[in-house]
Amino acid sequence: MREDKGMDAADMGTDLQQVLISREEIESRLDDMAEKIDADYAGKDLLLVGVLKGAVYVMADLSRRLRRSAPMDWMAVSSYGSGTKSSGVVRILKDLDTDLTGRHVLIVEDIIDSGLTLSWLLGNLTSRGAASVRIATLLRKPEAVKVEVDVTYVGFDIPNEFVVGYGLDYAESYRNLPFIATLRPEVYGG
Ligand code: XMP
Ligand code: MG
Repeated sequence: MREDKGMDAADMGTDLQQVLISREEIESRLDDMAEKIDADYAGKDLLLVGVLKGAVYVMADLSRRLRRSAPMDWMAVSSYGSGTKSSGVVRILKDLDTDLTGRHVLIVEDIIDSGLTLSWLLGNLTSRGAASVRIATLLRKPEAVKVEVDVTYVGFDIPNEFVVGYGLDYAESYRNLPFIATLRPEVYGG
């Protein structure tokens, strides 16, 4: 069952600074989030919208914990380049295939940092005639709390540090770590 175990910090050599959130902690928190989502959307037609690529793991693990069928669709937007700072510019790289008219949409995200991406996305999806649009994110950084973005489901509030793993990358690497970690500053020239 090699694939079930996944990487541990030792497999990353010296790139990682610290494991912030373990695989077990993520899984247990996703259990709670799924339970709440099940209750809140009981009797409603729920559409999960994932934001590529970071939300792939959250979507896979959260959606499989729901005790209901929930269709999913995907969007790709760009707000970050390959660095670690938000550009503030949101561009749609891949749009949804689904008509949102009358749908109850739950945006599934990996992380909310400045909140720029999600506040833009919230407005964009709402303007398409969705019956409701809410946000579920695994991680939230302190800056996001200052922004007027109403996030209904939050996994973990984390310090204002650049993190990788569980979908989050630095220059496309480290997404497949099964936990959330910080990188040694030397790795990204910090
Ligand atoms: P904003 O600032 O618009 O950013 O809320 C959201 C997007 O920025 C990326 N992001 C990160 N990616 N480690 C990453 O790998 C981080 O610590 C981090 N902080 C923000 C991410 O793509 C997110 O969707
Ligand atoms: Mg993202």
